[in-house]
Amino acid sequence: MCRELGPPEVLAVEEVAGPVASAGRVTVDVEAAGVNFVDALFVSGTYQVKPPLPFTPGSEIAGRVAAVGDGVAGYSPGDRVLASIGLGGFATAVSASVDQLNRIPDNLDAPQAATFTQSYCTALFALRNRARLSQGERVLVLGGGGGVGLAAIDVARWLGAEVIAAASTEVKRAAALQAGAVAVLDSSVENVNFRELAGFVDIVIDPIGGHHSPSALRALRENGRLVVIGFASGTIPLLPANHVLLRNREVIGVDWGAWAMSHASEQSVLLGELLDAAGRGDLHPTAPTIYRLDDVAAALSALLSREVTGKVALVP
Ligand SMILES: NC(=O)c1ccc[n+]([C@@H]2O[C@H](COP(=O)([O-])OP(=O)(O)OC[C@H]3O[C@@H](n4cnc5c(N)ncnc54)[C@H](OP(=O)(O)O)[C@@H]3O)[C@@H](O)[C@H]2O)c1
Repeated sequence: MCRELGPPEVLAVEEVAGPVASAGRVTVDVEAAGVNFVDALFVSGTYQVKPPLPFTPGSEIAGRVAAVGDGVAGYSPGDRVLASIGLGGFATAVSASVDQLNRIPDNLDAPQAATFTQSYCTALFALRNRARLSQGERVLVLGGGGGVGLAAIDVARWLGAEVIAAASTEVKRAAALQAGAVAVLDSSVENVNFRELAGFVDIVIDPIGGHHSPSALRALRENGRLVVIGFASGTIPLLPANHVLLRNREVIGVDWGAWAMSHASEQSVLLGELLDAAGRGDLHPTAPTIYRLDDVAAALSALLSREVTGKVALVP
């Protein structure tokens, strides 16, 4: 429960009444909850959406259906499901509407399934819907060892791109190579010249912002696209418009969450396509780092302090 806004330590684990399966809804026993950077932003009150207090953070979960409400067809107790529920996921049990549910492919375990939706949907929406990636294009992924970064590498490779990734540690760069990057760059140094190190690229995926963004913009070749996904560095970059003008570049915003809410049926197709690809073994979501639900503050702090490679999941 988040009863006041602040650092992750304001969260407290409390006993509350469990959810009931009302009409059109199911209850799910949570086996894993995905932890995202945005959960920490909700708790600190620095996200653009500010839920009223108190609230339980956690937007994505995986588990087994416990009970089904009236009018629910197609799901039974025991079914393995994942769900994006907005808030309330850091819990042992949740309620979800049927249209929030998807079946988990057999080859994904609960922590992988719980950390799939946000990172993979953002990656595919950014690369295909927004940046119009074509096969054979070169993509530079900043923050390539992070949750969105690793998913973007995996999805870009799947779409037929050549991927170069930048990350700040050896461990993150190794994960980026494992995910399918053909080359990795060390982004821990102050003034990285991406054009010099990577050569020209067609697309930059930028989930971190800060001082690397202007350099990445200059690495774009003719008609190149810089895709603005987030500001994990804490700094919103100022991009020089003259470098956007040169070579007919584009700077493209991505707000997957807002799009998913206002385009529910398209989002459902997008997620279904990704889950099918993962089920076939064409996509390879990495195994997340696991924390106990009681250690939620430590899990969020690890994300905020840049320690984590890949995703984090809470397991009740
Ligand atoms: N626009 C959208 O639709 C959308 C969707 C999902 C997520 N996002 C946003 O995208 C961003 C990244 O999300 P994520 O899930 O990939 O997060 P993440 O797993 O925590 O990865 C973020 C990466 O940012 C880099 N970073 C640089 N400076 C940092 C700092 N001061 N603190 C923390 N990380 C720092 C780190 O890589 P290095 O250590 O290699 O620099 C880290 O691996 C977040 O801001 C999130 O809110 C946006």
